[in-house]
Amino acid sequence: MNVQIVYFSGTGCTEHVAKTFSKEFQARGHTTLCRSITKTESPDEDIDLLVLCFAVHASNAPEPVMRWVKNLEKADERPVVIISISGGGEVTPNLACRVPLKRALKRKNYRLLYEKMLVMPSNWIVGTKRVLSSKLLQVLPYKVSYVVNDVLNGKSSFTHPLLGNRFLTFIGSLEHAGARSFGKKILVDKSCTLCGLCVKRCPVSNISLHGDRPVFGKNCTLCLNCIYSCPQGALHPGTMKFVVIKKGFSFQEILALPSDNLPIDLDKEAKGFAWVGVKRYLSKTSDMLEPAFQGPLD
Ligand SMILES: Cc1cc2nc3c(=O)[nH]c(=O)nc-3n(C[C@H](O)[C@H](O)[C@H](O)COP(=O)(O)O)c2cc1C
Repeated sequence: MNVQIVYFSGTGCTEHVAKTFSKEFQARGHTTLCRSITKTESPDEDIDLLVLCFAVHASNAPEPVMRWVKNLEKADERPVVIISISGGGEVTPNLACRVPLKRALKRKNYRLLYEKMLVMPSNWIVGTKRVLSSKLLQVLPYKVSYVVNDVLNGKSSFTHPLLGNRFLTFIGSLEHAGARSFGKKILVDKSCTLCGLCVKRCPVSNISLHGDRPVFGKNCTLCLNCIYSCPQGALHPGTMKFVVIKKGFSFQEILALPSDNLPIDLDKEAKGFAWVGVKRYLSKTSDMLEPAFQGPLD
């Protein structure tokens, strides 16, 4: 099978998930092409399966994902798998986060085979504890292997969120407009050295260097990658300050965390309402399968 994996990732978590899917399909004898949505106009003609991965933003798919689907040509019942990646897991208010995307894909004659939420470290408001982040990375290949196995065996998985959650997703979709204004209001302090890393790291090419400072266009997706990646810490939110984790966020640092197979006390480490979904995800083993791919990703 020819599998194309297309992803939108701000700070690297979703890219990591997409690459894990790619390796797992390959290890089972399939050909894959794994690309960022911002570098792919549309799926290749000869693919048998499209896997769409996105980082959940305010209980929705980020705007570039929705725009990408809206610009697609009508397909002839092309099969698609949707994987949402969140910091909070499959709980309210995330339960309907795939609904607008499912609808948009249906309008383009795509046939949904499977949908699933995977959990990765949180890059907004409150960061995930190191011990939990490390466990999330450890279980990821097992969760991915389970999905790939199901898809290859023709098993489907769909969710049907209730009206209340759909409403929360509708409210969250207002974030798309908020994101644009967030970008326009990013403040640059004088420690900026014009190194250009923010320009390079922006997934939607919304930043350019003009004169003595980076300039932000109107296509910000609020992914926060520029703020977290700045080596000088020179970029600051001018609005919605609460979304940025004060200590910063580095997926590379999370990847480098030591990992072991020792069980963790989830009651203690994932205590509180915000971590209910993470706790549930980590304690559920019925959706895990030994991965066919065992090596490092890169
Ligand atoms: C603006 C913004 C909004 C987010 N909204 C949600 C959300 O509604 N629910 C959730 O569980 N996680 C949310 N997250 C967390 C991300 O989905 C999560 O950390 C994901 O792993 C980030 O993936 P990435 O590194 O590929 O960008 C949000 C993150 C950002 C930056």
